[in-house]
Amino acid sequence: MTLRYAIIGNPVAHSKSPEIHAAFAAQTGIDLRYERLLAPPNGFRATAEEFRANGGRGANVTLPFKLDAFAYATEVSSRARDAGAVNTLTFDATRVFGDNTDGVGLVKDMRDNLGFAIAGKRVLIAGAGGATRGVIGPLLAEAPAVIAVANRTISKAEQIVQLYRLVSNIIVIALADLPGHQFDIIINATAASLKDDLPIIPRSTFAEGSLAYEMMYGKGVTPFLALGRQAGASVADGLGMLVEQAAESFLIWHGIRPHTEAVFRQLRLSAPLN
Ligand code: ATR
Repeated sequence: MTLRYAIIGNPVAHSKSPEIHAAFAAQTGIDLRYERLLAPPNGFRATAEEFRANGGRGANVTLPFKLDAFAYATEVSSRARDAGAVNTLTFDATRVFGDNTDGVGLVKDMRDNLGFAIAGKRVLIAGAGGATRGVIGPLLAEAPAVIAVANRTISKAEQIVQLYRLVSNIIVIALADLPGHQFDIIINATAASLKDDLPIIPRSTFAEGSLAYEMMYGKGVTPFLALGRQAGASVADGLGMLVEQAAESFLIWHGIRPHTEAVFRQLRLSAPLN
């Protein structure tokens, strides 16, 4: 029997998840169908319920519904609880299990694909929205020297850091204090690149041999990545994270972690970074 999965979002037409999961299914020999479900702005729960009632076994969840998915789940993993958001739902007869694979996807991409170990490194995250919340726990688990959170609205950075008040190596850094500090891994988790806005961090932030990581993908070399390049950093966008978070969801659903490299290379052809 063909297993049914879906990505629920709004918009969802642009999502690459169906082709990623189809490629993983072909690779592992699992018989599945993975579709796109457009939910109305206030209709996440109804859309998820209907899919489940029609035999859906699980779903990925994208913007703007990751918080709705968290509320909808009857049980959540500790990493989803840390993130306050769910991107992977698994349905069974009596429960809806919510997990979040975004952070582990980012770590896998950074550490294993790009070869940038996080342990002992100085990490700067620009932005204090859902994208940041989703990845801090798994980054901390890699034992960086420090994670500094910078944001246009400093109170939002303070709220996130407050969630980890028992952890000593996560701090807020004011934008005004960035000059004079250098980091080894600089992650842009703001929405600035969506609007082609300039990054909120100065060029002097990038240490020799650092990595500039744009969590967004499909926008080519963003102003943030261009700045990183000028400063001599290696650059990456979020395409690798996208494929790795999908592989983690696949693992949750099917018990096999697929190989990601060929799928990444195929997607890169239509979203180049040069
Ligand atoms: P998401 O949940 O996708 O992370 P969000 O909660 O809207 O989205 O957060 C967007 C982040 O990008 C916020 O940190 C926001 O900064 P503010 O908290 O000050 O609003 C940041 N952001 C959005 N547009 C930006 C811009 N043009 N320049 C700098 N930061 C920006």
